[in-house]
Amino acid sequence: MSKKIISLKDFGNDFKWGVASAAYQIEGNHQADGKSESVWDRFSHTKGKILDKTNGDDACDFYNRYKEDIANIKNMNMKVNRFSTSWTRILPDGTGKVNQKGIDFYHKVIDATLEAGLEPWITLYHWDLPQILEDKGGWKNREIIKWFSEYVDVVTRNYGEKVKNWMVLNEPTIFTAAGYMLGVHAPGKKGIMNFMPAAHHAAMCQAEGARIIRQNVSDANIGTTFSASHVEAVNDKECNIKAAARVDALINRMFIEPALGMGYPAEVEKMFGRWMKKYIKEGDIASLKFDFDFVGLQTYTRYLAKFCLFPPILFAKEIAPKKRGNPTTDMGWEIYPDGIYHLLKKYSKYPIKNIYVTENGCAFPDVINNGVVNDEKRIEYFNDYLSAVLKAKNEGVNVKGYFVWSLIDNFEWAEGLRPRFGLVYCDYKTQQRTIKNSGLWFKELLNE
Ligand code: GCO
Repeated sequence: MSKKIISLKDFGNDFKWGVASAAYQIEGNHQADGKSESVWDRFSHTKGKILDKTNGDDACDFYNRYKEDIANIKNMNMKVNRFSTSWTRILPDGTGKVNQKGIDFYHKVIDATLEAGLEPWITLYHWDLPQILEDKGGWKNREIIKWFSEYVDVVTRNYGEKVKNWMVLNEPTIFTAAGYMLGVHAPGKKGIMNFMPAAHHAAMCQAEGARIIRQNVSDANIGTTFSASHVEAVNDKECNIKAAARVDALINRMFIEPALGMGYPAEVEKMFGRWMKKYIKEGDIASLKFDFDFVGLQTYTRYLAKFCLFPPILFAKEIAPKKRGNPTTDMGWEIYPDGIYHLLKKYSKYPIKNIYVTENGCAFPDVINNGVVNDEKRIEYFNDYLSAVLKAKNEGVNVKGYFVWSLIDNFEWAEGLRPRFGLVYCDYKTQQRTIKNSGLWFKELLNE
């Protein structure tokens, strides 16, 4: 087992350790018990969209094996089970009629989590929009504020007595940019005229959803999550420093600053303002603000930026990870532990009450031999990234927890089932679970 340069007591007794997952990526049973089609069901069945031609129809069959998976979370001495609810199980038509079997399923997951002595932390939206709503414009349609509010109201009224920790959105930058500008995620739309309304409406739902949780759930701990990467300019040339500032505004600031009442970042206004103003109505900027109890940071790597004429508007591009002299993961992402340190320091400058790392982890081509997955590289990754988190914490950053992405190998969106992020290995043919050495490393670390 890898040497540990960190120890549980370094983080303090109130630090929360957990694992994260998402409905579409682990549940499978994509049509069971009244669930309707999501944009990811549609996208993953669209030719040419998923790199390894797989889909989430079966995934890890969490829908049937949730008890075993929750037992594994407990077995690894983790305390938090972060998961998401599927809008298409709860409201198959997107709005209106509630599917009681969908409601019942998440009661079972929550009850099993609580019975195991774990805390359920629910992400309300982890990208699986009902296709029926996408057919009406999806995130591009301002009506989504009403649709999303209804969904949040139903979920929080049903589970608010048992669940106190809530995240409104998972990574709005990713699902709006990848899904509505680049077309590489569901629903596969492209162009600025798709991205702009989707992004603004997501920012509106981020705050509106939080207000509904505040209204429905007593003693709620309300947050939302942001994908983020530490951004550096490749050198100190002014054109590259400015390019890095534009990238930073887009990927790290675009959704948190409106939530803090700061409005959209000036660089975002400068790049996209002429399109955005079409969708920003009177009073919108004020309603983007919400007093969140915490922010979830989700970071994996670093963005090394330089000026480039393409793409236009951003006029920046990333230095290829393989050209940076550092190791990379199976996603091709640079392993750069200092990135999480710098990012925590950056976000701690915002007036945020608490920060949780709600996702961090790595994919490697794990192999199972005689029931053992010796994922030494993943252990090293966690060792180094957690040391960087501890460094930030010891310098006064109000980071209160760390959730591993992910509990179990799962469907990695447009990459399919190939990338393995789990602390638990999933044999997709037999659905057999095996806790990897990295999961046993956490078990030991958290057992001190
Ligand atoms: C994300 C999502 C996860 C991913 C994970 C690895 O951050 O993109 O929340 O669903 O699977 O981050 O890419």
